[in-house]
Amino acid sequence: MNQLIAPSLLSADFGNLARDIQMINNSQADWFHIDIMDGHFVPNLSFGFPVLKSIVVHAKKPLDIHLMITNPDMYIERFCTEAHADILTVHYEACTHLHRTLQSIKAHGAKAGVALNPHTPVSVLEDILVEADMVLLMSVNPGFGGQKFITQTIEKIKKLKQMIDNQHLNTLIEIDGGVGLNNHHTLVEAGANVLVCGNSVFGAENPVATIDLLKK
Ligand code: DX5
Ligand code: ZN
Repeated sequence: MNQLIAPSLLSADFGNLARDIQMINNSQADWFHIDIMDGHFVPNLSFGFPVLKSIVVHAKKPLDIHLMITNPDMYIERFCTEAHADILTVHYEACTHLHRTLQSIKAHGAKAGVALNPHTPVSVLEDILVEADMVLLMSVNPGFGGQKFITQTIEKIKKLKQMIDNQHLNTLIEIDGGVGLNNHHTLVEAGANVLVCGNSVFGAENPVATIDLLKK
C-alpha cells in the first residue's frame, strides 16, 4: 500500500478555507487531518464545532480528527455525529480509561486512533493495540504547526511496526509533525502508513504538486 497523505487544515488559510479544502479535494491527498486543541491538553486553541460543520460541507475525503483535548469522552458522540469523523484519535496521555474510550468511538461508527506524545514510549500500547485502528505518533510536541521533526520518532516507528507485526494486526501508523519531502521516504521505510503534512503542503509554492511528490 502506498502511503496515505493527510494534509493538516491547521496550516490552511482560514480566510479561504473552502478554497483550500477544494484544493485538497482535487489533489491526490487521501484524508483531511483536523486538529482540535483545547488550551488545556496543549498550550493552544484551534477551532470547534461551528468551523468543523463548515469543513464537513466542503470536504469530500475522509476526516481524520485528532483530538488534543482533555476528557475526550465528553465529545466523542458529537465528533462522530455532527462532525462525521471517519477516524477519531484521542491521546493516550488524556485517557484514564483508554479501552473504554476506544470502544465508545467504535460504537459511534468511527475508526479509533490513539496518539502518543514524543516522550511516551510505544510499549505502553502493548495491551491495547488490538483495539486501535491506528496509532498516531507525534513527531513534534503537539500544539503548533511548522515545528521541527524529532528524529527519535524513526526508532519509535520501527518498534511500533514490530509490535503490530508480532500481534498480526493491520493497525495503521500515522506520523504527525514536521513531515515533508525531506523525510517522507525515511518514515515510510521505517513503517509509517499515513503522513500528516501541514506546513510542508500549505506552505509550499505548489501544494498540489507537493502532494504528488509526497505520494511517491
Ligand atoms: C500539531 C498538530 C499537527 C500539525 C502538523 O500539534 O497535531 O497536525 O498541524 O503541522 P506540521 O506538518 O506543519 O508540522
Ligand atoms: Zn495533528
